[in-house]
Amino acid sequence: MSVRAESPPPAATADERVAGVVFSAKRIAARVEELGQDIAAHYPSGELLVLGLLKGSFIFLGDLVRNIPRALQVDFLVAASYGAGTTSSGDVRLVYDPETHLEGKHILLVEDIVDSGNTLNRLVTLLRRRNPRSLEICALLHKRIAKELELEARFVGFDAPPLFLVGYGLDHAENYRHLPYIASLRES
Ligand code: IMP
Ligand code: MG
Repeated sequence: MSVRAESPPPAATADERVAGVVFSAKRIAARVEELGQDIAAHYPSGELLVLGLLKGSFIFLGDLVRNIPRALQVDFLVAASYGAGTTSSGDVRLVYDPETHLEGKHILLVEDIVDSGNTLNRLVTLLRRRNPRSLEICALLHKRIAKELELEARFVGFDAPPLFLVGYGLDHAENYRHLPYIASLRES
């Protein structure tokens, strides 16, 4: 897999720490459209609850649900797993728990990126206890480095290079979430 950036970041939104665009806005939009079709096809019947894991999934979730041509509901989960650093602490805290009833519904958990898998393992265990009709994961990005996943993501936007990525919802210390593309960050 190439870890080189596709192109330098557009000057208007970049700063010196943004190294280069890895997935352009155009490429993301095309892939999100495909994911929406795949997801609709996977759920021919039943109630579907799309559960976005905040904050990282907020832009992806907004684009994704508008590309899923079937009835659905949206709610959110807030889990905090990272501080200001670029490595996983392994600690996952639930800050907001969905009020929506999960029992008997198809739950699609939407995550920005699967890294160590700690966050998802914790959440999958918790959500399964609420007796959903089914539980699947949709991740925009997957680093493919997680050793033991309770549940592998059924829908994945892109395999991610082994870089720290920002933009399109992904942050570094709460910055860069607004970038319309996904970029790599210089370590410094
Ligand atoms: P995991 O628990 O190690 O799988 O980490 C998942 C969470 O860590 C994601 O939801 C992100 O919020 C954050 N994360 C992991 N890798 C990156 C990255 O490359 N850029 C930004 N955030 C990341
Ligand atoms: Mg984060």
